[in-house]
Amino acid sequence: MVDDATRARAARAGDAARAGDAARAADAATRQRVAALRTAIEHHRYRYYVLDDPEVSDAEFDRLIGELRALEEAHPELDHPDSPTHKVGAPPDPAFTPVAHRERMLSLDNVFEAAELDAWFDRVERGLDGAQPTYTAELKVDGVAISLSYVDGWFARAVTRGDGRTGEDITAGARTIEAIPAVLDLRDPPALLEVRGEVYFPVAAFEEMNRAREQAGQERFANPRNAASGALRQKDPRVTATRPLSMVCHGRGVIEGVTLPDHPAFLALLADAGLPVAHETRTGLDRRAVHDFVAHWAEHRHDPDYEIDGAVVKVESFAQQRQLGATSAAPRWAIAVKYPPEERETRLRDIAVNIGRTGKANPYAVLEPVLVSGSTVSTATLHNEDQVALKDVRPGDVVIARKAGDVIPEVVGAVTSKRPPEVAEAGPWRFPTECPFCASPIERLEGEAASYCTNLDCPSRKLEALEHFASRGAMDIDGFGSETARLLLDLGMVGQFADVYHLDRDALLALEGWGEKKTDNLLAAIEASKEQPLERLLFALGIPHVGGTVAGLLARHFGDLDTLRQASEEEIGAVDGVGPVIAQAVRQFFDNPRTAEQVDRLVAAGVRTDTDLGAGTAERTLEGWTVVITGSLEGSTRDEAKQAVVDRGGKVTSSVSKSTSVVVVGDSPGSKADKARELGVPVVDEDGFAALLATGALPEGATDGPAAAPADEG
Ligand code: IVH
Repeated sequence: MVDDATRARAARAGDAARAGDAARAADAATRQRVAALRTAIEHHRYRYYVLDDPEVSDAEFDRLIGELRALEEAHPELDHPDSPTHKVGAPPDPAFTPVAHRERMLSLDNVFEAAELDAWFDRVERGLDGAQPTYTAELKVDGVAISLSYVDGWFARAVTRGDGRTGEDITAGARTIEAIPAVLDLRDPPALLEVRGEVYFPVAAFEEMNRAREQAGQERFANPRNAASGALRQKDPRVTATRPLSMVCHGRGVIEGVTLPDHPAFLALLADAGLPVAHETRTGLDRRAVHDFVAHWAEHRHDPDYEIDGAVVKVESFAQQRQLGATSAAPRWAIAVKYPPEERETRLRDIAVNIGRTGKANPYAVLEPVLVSGSTVSTATLHNEDQVALKDVRPGDVVIARKAGDVIPEVVGAVTSKRPPEVAEAGPWRFPTECPFCASPIERLEGEAASYCTNLDCPSRKLEALEHFASRGAMDIDGFGSETARLLLDLGMVGQFADVYHLDRDALLALEGWGEKKTDNLLAAIEASKEQPLERLLFALGIPHVGGTVAGLLARHFGDLDTLRQASEEEIGAVDGVGPVIAQAVRQFFDNPRTAEQVDRLVAAGVRTDTDLGAGTAERTLEGWTVVITGSLEGSTRDEAKQAVVDRGGKVTSSVSKSTSVVVVGDSPGSKADKARELGVPVVDEDGFAALLATGALPEGATDGPAAAPADEG
């Protein structure tokens, strides 16, 4: 509804916009009424045409239009080409048309430590010929950067940051955000006011929404920023309107019609105008006070209702800002102080063991869900028996969780000072001796850290094998995710992966929720997967030690499946990049009657058995990429992984820098993963790496870096 306050604001804004009119044919009351009518009509047009949810009857709407038209006819000086009386039909389609920013939306340079911040202060003061400026300190909100334009006090447009020069028009979605006023609450609004800020999804609402989604069997949103970005970029603003988005403003674009001395004056204007500003902001600070601000919020980063990833320090005076200028990407008068990767305490509910596709028993932590570095973490790998022993984490412990490279959840260790007495008494956790899925014995092999379930038919193993078979980088069967795999396994419709190619259409149609469309889509995806080249098939088979890299080496060397199957262990081991361990595993796989039969059935079903990789060549899918590999990979040695990148035209370097395209993170990754996060370089795990090698593109979820997702950078 248009409330009285809005009407009053609109009235004052309209009033003020025309305050300069010399000829005052219309009295103040009339001008106020015209302004109020325009606000109300725009509001109702929007409810009607865009949200499809009108608040007033058509008759009432027509009455408002009629009244406005009559007033404009009686007082032509009040008429305006933008008046709703001159508009016909629906507002423009809310497709995301590109809009050039009148002034570039710059980024910020980062520092990570107090000493670096001091070095920045020194640079600033040198740039100001020794003057000591005052500073504003703000929180760095991890949201979606947008730019709002107000023309004569009226909200005119919202544009995403895009690449900084051109963004996308998201006006329709932005109109649904309550924090963004339709009219500025100023007696004398500037002719043009461009305001920059961050749209965010409030953390509490985010967690609540995810709980509800989980209960409804829907997928969780990864983190509040993605949820905000997704909501804002809905084609249908009615969907945006259902999300509790909010906004804080922190910067200016082009301003016409008002001159301001400094940043605090700008923030005060925003607050007066009814625009949302962060109340944590502190102005008039010296160096010492800035350090205190940064330190305080590092300790209290979870207090605000938005996610923050640092603080932003700005020279206040606009004259001094001009004097300092900007580099090509960032102003010299502002700096972001980034906080270290987050570590959060949470309760370790349990240590569970999963059986992977090779039978390997993987212990993992079941955590009380906790928001870490922007997404909820509820499980984290514990790698193997030795790792659990080393960390001595026990169910019931308070543990510290963080994300390696901001991507892969891990448990750092237990907070022993908070260990409950009964947990202390229970002693260290013991690795199970029986498989939790099939009760078969679990055995640890001599000289290996890993333990294995001894049952080849272990249901967990089968499920994992099946999921892997259908995954991206393998046979890439769309619609065959873990849910489908589990369902079909539980119903006995598939047992081994060759069964995937013998699914019965009628049996699928008989399943609950499986209509013709879903069924036929899946069958079509399965049919299409038969065309995957040999290297994908070899990877999909799940032969121990054969990851995407080795699969490519084998496919390229042998050219087709039959030649490989007939090759001796020595011949296989002689392939460049393939050692005796892999050769033995491959030979065993094809010699084992059970697995050999699976392969025969796949061939009989018509899967492709030759390769796209000519001898000595690989598709140069990684031309121009610089890749850093850290931690140990399961499916290949470091050298093989490097070779795979080089074969595809990419480059492998050992240290992470801004020009790194992607960091591949294996087990126990170390500091390179953290460095990647600091620099905003995308990080992928081993499966993501396989997908990257296969497709030449980063899988979803890895594109956290600014270069890859500029529109979402916060
Ligand atoms: S000022 C020209 N202040 O962080 C300076 N930016 O990593 C423009 N951000 O592009 C930025 N909170 O989208 C500023 N208090 C704050 C901020 C902030 C979040 C975002 C902004 C910027 C990005 C740089």
